[in-house]
Amino acid sequence: MGSKSQKSLHCNYLNMKKIAILASGSGSNAENIIRFFQHHPNIQVDSVWSNKQDAFVLERAERLKVEAHYFSREEFISTDNLIIEFKKREIDLIVLAGFLLLLPQKFVREFLVVNIHPALLPSYGGKGMYGAHVHNAVIDNKESESGITIHLVDEVYDHGKVLLQAKCAVEPQDTPETLAQKIHKLEMEHFPHTIEALLSGSA
Ligand code: GRF
Repeated sequence: MGSKSQKSLHCNYLNMKKIAILASGSGSNAENIIRFFQHHPNIQVDSVWSNKQDAFVLERAERLKVEAHYFSREEFISTDNLIIEFKKREIDLIVLAGFLLLLPQKFVREFLVVNIHPALLPSYGGKGMYGAHVHNAVIDNKESESGITIHLVDEVYDHGKVLLQAKCAVEPQDTPETLAQKIHKLEMEHFPHTIEALLSGSA
């Protein structure tokens, strides 16, 4: 019996899919994803990477005992260091969780990449549409609904195949702050499950 369980553990380890998270800010999504996969049999968060040395996401990752790394914008854009590192680590999926730099095309060619956007793409996407800018624009335009889009990343900004959209109502009394809370709730609920489905081949 002992050897059987050892064998199945060994098999699981071999089949383990690895995620690298890229984030620039607070990292509430990164933390949620790390917690979700903490005891997952087939998927693990390998590491967290940020282009901001003081991003709170790095602290969150360290607290959760996940490797946390900083890289400079220059290193990201002008060298292949990260790609080489991700290949060495056998990363299966790059998750962009509030990552504010445009991903160089070479990453998209080498890896599967997924992003979360805090609006219903193709509306409110593209350059400059991040964080509060998105919610301000949705409120200013008196939209009756907003939501999240989880999508694969291709070579065009906010463009790749949509894996999931989830909606919330925008009430007349909503402010950018209350809308952000609704969006945050949707992100917490759906992002880890969508990643799991993607890596299990069912998204
Ligand atoms: C989220 O709203 C996400 O949709 C967007 O950036 C924000 C990141 O928030 N791409 P956090 O750093 O995960 O708290």
